[in-house]
Amino acid sequence: MKVSASLLACDYLKLEQEIDRIERAGADLLHLDIMDGHYVNNFAFSIDMVEKIKRVAGLPVEVHLEIDNPQEHIENFAKAGADIIIVQADCVHHPIRLLSKIRSLGKKAGYAVNPCEPAERIDEVFPYIDYLLMMSAEPGFGGQPFNGNCIRKIKYADDIRKANPQAAYSIGVDGGVTAENTADLREAGTDVIIVGSAIFCTDDYAGNIAKFK
Ligand code: DX5
Ligand code: ZN
Repeated sequence: MKVSASLLACDYLKLEQEIDRIERAGADLLHLDIMDGHYVNNFAFSIDMVEKIKRVAGLPVEVHLEIDNPQEHIENFAKAGADIIIVQADCVHHPIRLLSKIRSLGKKAGYAVNPCEPAERIDEVFPYIDYLLMMSAEPGFGGQPFNGNCIRKIKYADDIRKANPQAAYSIGVDGGVTAENTADLREAGTDVIIVGSAIFCTDDYAGNIAKFK
């Protein structure tokens, strides 16, 4: 299972050092939450920050757009160098069009489903998804408790994947992931865990990442 480090929890004043440390500590991906103060009651990162982070990052960067009207910003995030662009299912009016557009820009198309949204959200759209993110906490903040409903939803998404050759997405989980819930997530079919607080909570990033692996 891959570990994507959510930089929302890092020390922004030492961003370059934090990226270097996290890469040496064994993370597989860097996760950047983009927040607009509107879809969620918080602000985080920006297009410009993605571009700057890409200059120093050795790992692939996934941008998680926790913003309204994501369709207006896709090209700019692609230009900034994001490797994976994830949109929130509840922010997208025309998912097939938007996910296809992300792919046409040469990026992986991610689709995030909130804890209170049904897993069936993916039924009509799965052939267009490269990366399905099951949210295990409400978007907007790190350090929230893990919502275990995602386990059932991950199994559902994994079953769809097994039954349909056009369903080729990876399954990620985002929110409240700790070493305690990792085994259940893995068993349900998770490929990538997104982890913020549980990596950056102590100075031993390598030790913290090792617990997940
Ligand atoms: C929340 C973000 C998450 C967050 C996860 O809106 O999407 O990526 O950083 O952080 P933890 O692991 O602390 O829940
Ligand atoms: Zn996220």
